[in-house]
Amino acid sequence: MSNVAYQQCINPSCGATYGIEAVHVVCQACGSLLDIVYDWAKLPVIKNLNFFEHRWSTKGTGGEGRLDFSGIWRFRELLPFYRTEEDIVTIGEGRTCLQQADLLAEHLGMAPGKLLLQYEGLNPSGSFKDNGMTAAFTHAKMVGARRVACASTGNTSASLAMFASLARLQGIVFIGNGKIALGKLSQALDYGALTLQIEGDFDDCLRRIRQVAADPELGIYLMNSVNPFRLEGQKSIMYRILEARDWQSPDWVIVPGGNLGNCSAFGKAFAELKELGLVRKIPRLAVINAAGANTLSVLYNQHGLRWNEGNYDAGTIRKFYAVMDEGKVTAHTVASAIEIGRPVNLPKALRALAIMNGVVREATDEDILEHRAMVARFGFGCEPASAASVAGLRMLLAEGVIGPGETVACILTGHELKDPNVTVKYHTGIDLKSAQDLASRQEPRGALCNRPMAVADDLDAIIRAIGDDPARAGRLDSRKQS
Ligand code: F0G
Repeated sequence: MSNVAYQQCINPSCGATYGIEAVHVVCQACGSLLDIVYDWAKLPVIKNLNFFEHRWSTKGTGGEGRLDFSGIWRFRELLPFYRTEEDIVTIGEGRTCLQQADLLAEHLGMAPGKLLLQYEGLNPSGSFKDNGMTAAFTHAKMVGARRVACASTGNTSASLAMFASLARLQGIVFIGNGKIALGKLSQALDYGALTLQIEGDFDDCLRRIRQVAADPELGIYLMNSVNPFRLEGQKSIMYRILEARDWQSPDWVIVPGGNLGNCSAFGKAFAELKELGLVRKIPRLAVINAAGANTLSVLYNQHGLRWNEGNYDAGTIRKFYAVMDEGKVTAHTVASAIEIGRPVNLPKALRALAIMNGVVREATDEDILEHRAMVARFGFGCEPASAASVAGLRMLLAEGVIGPGETVACILTGHELKDPNVTVKYHTGIDLKSAQDLASRQEPRGALCNRPMAVADDLDAIIRAIGDDPARAGRLDSRKQS
């Protein structure tokens, strides 16, 4: 398969290409992001999307049925970067549902059947991240990685830790000090990842993990969404929405924006489907930032930043970050999952907004909390960041950008139980959060206990923490024997 796929710099004036088994997360020539590109002409023709439906009858029946069970790999012809099907690492991810949310629609003044909620919280680790992790772990396996790592606001770390444990790779996660919802932290610890609690926020963690991953001595494979293979998996969220609608596009897709991987993947999915003649209509995209983490919204709406066929104005972005640094401005929102000031996929998000004729809005914390509660009252519930999509929908309806008769799919990115503290606080006023200083609490006693390590925001200290962990090495050995 892999001779038909390669990696390519998204910067049109560079366009450098790399083999599918290269491990670079950015272009070595110019530092831009990379795409996975397919030579569709050399691949078997997919005549129409109905082709994928037969897989429901073969799911879980052994052999290829293993792949048909996955909500990502049942669409494997649309992400054919793997060498052989043996490479594919799958844990049964992506079996999520599109709910016709008529009660919520009524509450928002929309007609029945017009509001659809895509519950990505129904993934094994409770968030949409599993869609991307299965693809990136597949690539990690292709290239023989032994250690995988990410910086995270919580869900990426939970997903990475789960996949790493099942794929028997060492998982390492960097989380900001006190910046992670307890449900997510508990997952990373439970699945056995080495959990480094860095003094700083997500942006600090991402900067550090990119430095660590660039050191070949450490042999660490980076799992953040700057890794283009992650986005290949996340395209499948769009395939599943189409599948649930008899392959008809909705009018709108609304998604919260943090590191901007998801919206970037959606744009790529529709660009490819259109190129392949598999969809007639590309839906419009709305990306919703939290007001306290609104980099994309400010750059897009106030500075008029656009993709401009790849010639976007990088100077505007640099200036924006310089002003942020000068004023020591960092992201702050109750929606901790999207508390990100320097979204790594910003250029790809601009491209997705161009492909999908998109808009960007920002929702206040109060709006996010109210809409989160609303989703729970009228549906299956979601975590705060996910509800930014519904808060954005209400805003766009009020503005008349979205008409009441249009069909809208809101992506609910994470499960309600990820962040129970926010829910309890909303309903009772009691703040249960006590995650500020986890590393210095009482000695835990459980046989499988996996304590987070507090680490300064300092590269040497971080490398020491990753390297010198004999207790963990011992645990890995004992697991191999069992
Ligand atoms: N919703 C949830 C629940 C998330 O966890 C994230 C990102 C997003 C939305 C934003 O998605 O980054 O693709 O724009 N969480 C990352 C993490 C950053 O580390 O778990 P994006």
